[in-house]
Amino acid sequence: MSDMKSVLRALNGETLERPPFWFMRQAGRYLSEYRALRSDAGSFLDLCYNSDLAAEVTLQPIDRFGMDAAILFADILLIPQGLGCQLDYREGEGPVLSPIRSAEELSKLSLSGLHDQVGPVYETVRKVRASLSDDKTLIGFAGSPWTVATYIVEGGGSTDHANTRRWAYVDPVGFGKLIDLLIEATVQYLGEQIKAGADALQLFDTWAGILSETGFQKWCVEPTARIVAALKQDYPDIPIIGFPRAAGPRLAGYAEKTGVAAVGLDYSMPLEWARDHVQEKVTLQGNLDPLLLLAGGDAMLKEAERILKILGQGPFIFNLGHGIVPQTPVEHVRALADLLRG
Ligand code: CP3
Repeated sequence: MSDMKSVLRALNGETLERPPFWFMRQAGRYLSEYRALRSDAGSFLDLCYNSDLAAEVTLQPIDRFGMDAAILFADILLIPQGLGCQLDYREGEGPVLSPIRSAEELSKLSLSGLHDQVGPVYETVRKVRASLSDDKTLIGFAGSPWTVATYIVEGGGSTDHANTRRWAYVDPVGFGKLIDLLIEATVQYLGEQIKAGADALQLFDTWAGILSETGFQKWCVEPTARIVAALKQDYPDIPIIGFPRAAGPRLAGYAEKTGVAAVGLDYSMPLEWARDHVQEKVTLQGNLDPLLLLAGGDAMLKEAERILKILGQGPFIFNLGHGIVPQTPVEHVRALADLLRG
């Protein structure tokens, strides 16, 4: 029997009559059932490490809107925590980490406690796969080494990422050791997600776009290629989606050199360019502006139709161009999901 999972078919290069869809950050604060469960759990991290609740949160948007894929509920900063960084999420402030800014400080980090710390995440994957229907894809994920490194080096979010970029320029060998450690941790972490039942993976490189041309090759393309090659060796059938946000025209080289099966398009990407230069190489995924989902109405539906028209003639998965924002009305998500289900 042919595999019924539409997202996997699209990732394998098939053009589907109705493109499958899911939304980045489809689980989260815009859903009342998430807010209720989150307040029962305590903190955001308590929720991430409670596999029963995290599995339930993963499934909430599917139950409500019928997306074709579930994305594991976790966070890209669990790896740094598993390597030994202090991590805390402060209300209204975002994540705060104990920063690492030199090669000497790297001795504070190690792979030895990783799986003990993030073990509950693998349990979440197992539980979700057991209750998710066979026609739905379960997407595991991690942050890309560059993006995770920016949070480790800056000690949280940042507007200019100056400490990270400076370290990478002043001491590329030392900074490269941090990237090597993150590559190894990511390969192990994603391998365990596959063993637990993930059908596909996404690598979030939220801050790829701030890199220089040379830096983009060295810190985004090469580490991604190494992760993809290592996972393909052990798990050749698990497709990987890369999301190098704001890569612009560098997306074509990224698609060619990393070995990913698909690339996520951020909402600024010109669609005809992506169709003409990238879709012949890999499956495309994207790219409705999450703020247009927040705005809703005809403007949102028209833009969704435009995206479907331009990208739907080739291998394509409909998604947003970045994550759903917490203020998004659920009726807008419902209207978009209704359109996409046809
Ligand atoms: O997409 C999903 O539904 C799956 C779960 C998921 C979360 N974070 C849950 C989350 C995924 C895939 C992520 C990825 C992630 N986390 C990225 C890459 C994608 C992106 O958005 O650019 C990044 C940069 C992070 C780091 C992170 N986590 C930040 C900066 C924040 C704070 C900002 C915010 O929205 O509050 C988080 C917290 C976070 N991760 C929340 C959720 C649902 C909100 C936590 C809460 O409930 O208070």
